[in-house]
Amino acid sequence: MSASTPIRTLTPLAIRAQKGKTPLVCLTAYTTPIARLADATCDIVLVGDSVGMVLHGLPSTLGVTMDMMIMHGKAVMRGMDRALCVVDMPFGSYEESPAQAFRNASRLLAETGAAAVKLEGGVHMKETIAFLVARGVPVMGHIGLTPQAVNVLGGYRVQGRNEDAQRVMDDAHAVEEAGAFSIVLEKLPRNLGSAITTRLGIPTIGIGAGPECDGQILVIDDMLGLFAEFKPKFVKRYASLADNAATALATYAQEVRERSFPGQEHSFGDNA
Ligand code: KIV
Repeated sequence: MSASTPIRTLTPLAIRAQKGKTPLVCLTAYTTPIARLADATCDIVLVGDSVGMVLHGLPSTLGVTMDMMIMHGKAVMRGMDRALCVVDMPFGSYEESPAQAFRNASRLLAETGAAAVKLEGGVHMKETIAFLVARGVPVMGHIGLTPQAVNVLGGYRVQGRNEDAQRVMDDAHAVEEAGAFSIVLEKLPRNLGSAITTRLGIPTIGIGAGPECDGQILVIDDMLGLFAEFKPKFVKRYASLADNAATALATYAQEVRERSFPGQEHSFGDNA
């Protein structure tokens, strides 16, 4: 690419066309500075409803609202130049009817400037996904462990084991048939993640679904070691920023208490 080639934003169609090619690199982001970092390396940046747990201290994603998703979606879009930005539809914003889903999805796209939404669910969301896609809303599906259904699933456990595998496979096919441009597979046995990836014509983005998926996504605060509350088994920590921050804060506190705060010796004098 020459220096004068304009950087083009990745579109849902371009992501769809990556099926079977170079694996897709995806991360979540919730703020402008982190979005800038993620945009430089990722194909997809997801404004996940995990923002509720990661940044707002909520116990699950159920308390996340449209207003929160719009605020964080706008912040992320300010840091984006080239990757595709996808915004999660929060719990309660799309399950009631396709019309409700369109009303809220169109708001998310119009108010944030993102190009696609993600919603959870398979067979039971097929009609809604098709309704959105037919009306110009690109949709990323999300099946397997769907955190918004934690109270029905009875926890954040692996889905699709043994005889449950067919249910998850049916969900995957339903999402593809409805017209989604890609699909997140969360917490599935490796062989099921691999089988779904082979059978579908759209890219699968895995999070705890094995290395054969067409791409991988992680919650950025997990992989940077910033979100220390809990660590899913499938998350590799690429940094320990919470530990670094704790050390930095302790050093700062010590320097303030000892009046050895570097920089203060150069502070403005009376004649400055
Ligand atoms: O909300 C989120 O961060 C997600 C990813 C874990 C896929 O849905």
